[in-house]
Amino acid sequence: MIARFKEEVDRGLSCTPKRLPSKYFYDERGDALFIAITRMPEYYLTRAEFEILSQKTQCITQALGLQKGKYFELVELGAGHGSKTKALIRAWHRAAYRFTYLPIDISPCALDGLIAGLSRELPGVSIRAQCGDYFEILDSLRGDRHPKVVLFLGSNMGNMPDEQAAEFVHELGARLKPGDSLLLGLDLIKDAAIVLPAYRGGITRDFNLNLLLRINRELVGDFDVKAFEHRVEYDVREGIVKSYLESTRPQEVRISKIGKRFFFEKGERIHTEISRKYDDRILARIIADSGFRIVDKLMDGQGWFADYVLKRC
Ligand code: AVJ
Repeated sequence: MIARFKEEVDRGLSCTPKRLPSKYFYDERGDALFIAITRMPEYYLTRAEFEILSQKTQCITQALGLQKGKYFELVELGAGHGSKTKALIRAWHRAAYRFTYLPIDISPCALDGLIAGLSRELPGVSIRAQCGDYFEILDSLRGDRHPKVVLFLGSNMGNMPDEQAAEFVHELGARLKPGDSLLLGLDLIKDAAIVLPAYRGGITRDFNLNLLLRINRELVGDFDVKAFEHRVEYDVREGIVKSYLESTRPQEVRISKIGKRFFFEKGERIHTEISRKYDDRILARIIADSGFRIVDKLMDGQGWFADYVLKRC
């Protein structure tokens, strides 16, 4: 894990323009900051999806084609603390559906919290958690024959460029069988006046800067986080939020475990994250060669967020 981190930081900071992978946001402090983000009044995504999962459970269950007598595996990619998923799990558990919940996440802290919370609140639910990168864990799905419902919620796919998302959905489809399904939560394209505030503010700035602190700690770097400002851009025609950390002065950063120094001009940026927003057309393009087709789309009352039900055909 640390070798991968080192390699990816080295590669990203050696590029022009500089970039760092957003998946490394999620260490212990990053998890806590992300939870704080989901509670910001401006961060509408989590509440909108919670509304869908808790109020449209019946539609979702029907679209997924679940049957009470038929055992399935509920695989969640990027489960995090699973607070939205609990609404679904609770409803299915109460209605006596038979399933095992298999949450997967990059963050061990988040998974520990999830397991503790679930076994307290829903002790009857069978659960088997796995920690790791989605792409690695996807392979562990190979070779077992239980029907699967895969959850990929929270607009987590939005962190991938479209080509990578298409490849990901394709790879996922290749590991599933006809009849298996995917519940895909995606934030929808809408006005900058609604989207931008969700990605700005002090908590989100600290969430981004935490990546530099993580490099300082784990790779023995000397980033001066006070010399970086958080910048966010969004063009509604493109539908992609882009987050950056911008150097406020010329500076040199040493990262001992990489054994290199990295130079920053004043105003030079590190691209830290993309958060893609979708519509039906963009999703259709992404799933075009994946073996999935869209069977339903559930939205919150404001039409800001969607949970798409896809079936592997
Ligand atoms: C967890 C990837 C869905 O992109 O909206 C929140 C992460 N970044 N604020 C998103 C995030 C800045 C979030 N995802």
